[in-house]
Amino acid sequence: MPHLTRRPFVATAAALSLSLLGLPALAQEQVLNIYSARHYQTDEALYSNFTKTTGIKINRIDGKEDELVERIRNEGTASPADLLITVDATRLEIADKLGLFQPVKSSVLESRIPAALRTPNWYSFSTRARVIVYNKVALKREQVLNYEDLANPALKGQVCVRSGAHPYNLSLGGALIAHDGEAKTEAWARGLVANFARAPKGGDTDQIMAVAAGECGVTLSNSYYVARMLRSTKPADQEAMRAVGVVWPNQSSWGTHVNVSGAGVLKHSPNRAAAVKFLEYLASDAAQLYFADGNNEWPVVASVKTNNRALESLGTFKADALPIGDLAKNTVNAQKVFDRAGWR
Ligand SMILES: [Fe+2]
Repeated sequence: MPHLTRRPFVATAAALSLSLLGLPALAQEQVLNIYSARHYQTDEALYSNFTKTTGIKINRIDGKEDELVERIRNEGTASPADLLITVDATRLEIADKLGLFQPVKSSVLESRIPAALRTPNWYSFSTRARVIVYNKVALKREQVLNYEDLANPALKGQVCVRSGAHPYNLSLGGALIAHDGEAKTEAWARGLVANFARAPKGGDTDQIMAVAAGECGVTLSNSYYVARMLRSTKPADQEAMRAVGVVWPNQSSWGTHVNVSGAGVLKHSPNRAAAVKFLEYLASDAAQLYFADGNNEWPVVASVKTNNRALESLGTFKADALPIGDLAKNTVNAQKVFDRAGWR
């Protein structure tokens, strides 16, 4: 969990930037203030379509996840923010634990979003999977079919992976604890660390490149990074993707770990009705397409089908059915387990 310090000037900066955006709003003008840690090109259409259909003007502050959470905390009851949009169950859980959200009940959201992908205080709007990527020369597919396999001593010196403190790995840790228990997950993390080809550095894409180059044999990556590289027209990316194989992990056990992008209405939201309306809009067919496809993810609404050839080329898979809220609750423990195992 990031250490959050109190920095009063952040609140001043927030007030200033919102006033530059046109706040305080005219009394009769409906507005919605969104703090977003998601910023993709297609999200622009997402926001402008909402304004077009509802007349509600959106003021948006883009920022890094941890900074936005810190800002909302510092602004306290005076926060102009109505909604927080962010990625990863771990981050949503951190925000929720800090008491930043308020419960939302909506029959639209309940009928559109599967129960396993919502909690009382926040909702998921797209999903991504954590997959195994291996070097086809260095390893056989059969050696890396499960997350648990990456701790096998036979893979000594073969594992590259980003920091264990990163939310993507903490969320996976939350799933492992739920399915395998804490003791087994700690033994797994120790085995993983013992197999490292190098100390954790860089993001998921850096690990894929290292696997392709033969610096290591196997890594973990979010599915959208794989899709992004498959869609890339850069010769280096295409060459890298020819060198690697992609595995949907744990198909013969509990399924591939799935994480989410999500959003929640903030506790001190001044425009609550508009905020709920926006969440319901995010669950609409058109918005689901934009939201998921903008980052090569999958919609949460089952009836909405994307046309993403890169993702489709990877085939279908069995996803972990663990409710996202249960997984999120385990992430604090996952951090402790990974710390003890020395996965920094
Ligand atoms: Fe990412």
